[in-house]
Amino acid sequence: MLAGQRGLVVGGSTGIGAAIAEAWARNGMDVLVLSRTKPVNDLRWAAIDLADPAPATALDDLGPLDAVAFAAVYYGDKRATFAETPLAQWRHQVEVNLTGLWRTLQATLPALRAGNGLFVNVSSEVVFNGGPGRSGYAATKAAGASLVDSVRQEEDGVRFVSVLPAGMVDSPGIRKRRPSDFDYSGYMRPETFGPLAVELAETKGKAHNGDSLIVNPDGSWESVRRGVPVSQSDRSRL
Ligand SMILES: NC(=O)c1ccc[n+]([C@@H]2O[C@H](COP(=O)([O-])OP(=O)(O)OC[C@H]3O[C@@H](n4cnc5c(N)ncnc54)[C@H](OP(=O)(O)O)[C@@H]3O)[C@@H](O)[C@H]2O)c1
Repeated sequence: MLAGQRGLVVGGSTGIGAAIAEAWARNGMDVLVLSRTKPVNDLRWAAIDLADPAPATALDDLGPLDAVAFAAVYYGDKRATFAETPLAQWRHQVEVNLTGLWRTLQATLPALRAGNGLFVNVSSEVVFNGGPGRSGYAATKAAGASLVDSVRQEEDGVRFVSVLPAGMVDSPGIRKRRPSDFDYSGYMRPETFGPLAVELAETKGKAHNGDSLIVNPDGSWESVRRGVPVSQSDRSRL
């Protein structure tokens, strides 16, 4: 279904990004993943560390692109109030979550423009609710959403769609911040994003340009225009 398409997933080695990359590849897209570590799947991969402000050669000469997803994230080492958050953690969040998105847009827009392509930004409910205990994550995600929306209004040929989970998703980044005996049975699986990612690539996001789509645990999705997503922040854990 996606044969002949070329895609890029920045932050596609694990979690939601990996699920999008794998779903695209399973449906015939030629996908390149960028991340610090090699994905466990056998997708094409090149190393990038978005926390490193030096120019990243992995973002040079990407060739023609039909679809790009940005899913790289640094959540922070643990939930902490704003007052407890060290400056270095904030800077790391800005560099990966926001400047990483900026760099990805700069590097990929010429190719997407040429092919009337699709840009998928993996978003979060914190964009709409804020995030007590994760202010840096929330602020960088909200700024990223605004960046994407502003760029969308400049670009006629490219479609921009944000996708976000209705609940928490079990991923390595989330596991780093939980105790080892944490119960993940109520968490969503990253694979839930596969069907939507494939539909967006097939249609180049035509029906959803500028929208944010909330993915439910059963894989269905709906626009945030129908209602703001439920906050996943847990003030009791502060
Ligand atoms: N999980 C949830 O509950 C949840 C909820 C709402 C929204 N989201 C959103 O979903 C997206 C993916 O989150 P996830 O939880 O699925 O994440 P994850 O499994 O922790 O994956 C994060 C990705 O970012 C990459 N990454 C991290 N630091 C990087 C760096 N310095 N340079 C380059 N790549 C880097 C990781 O690869 P390497 O480690 O190999 O570099 C990995 O591919 C994020 O946008 C997040 O905001 C997640």
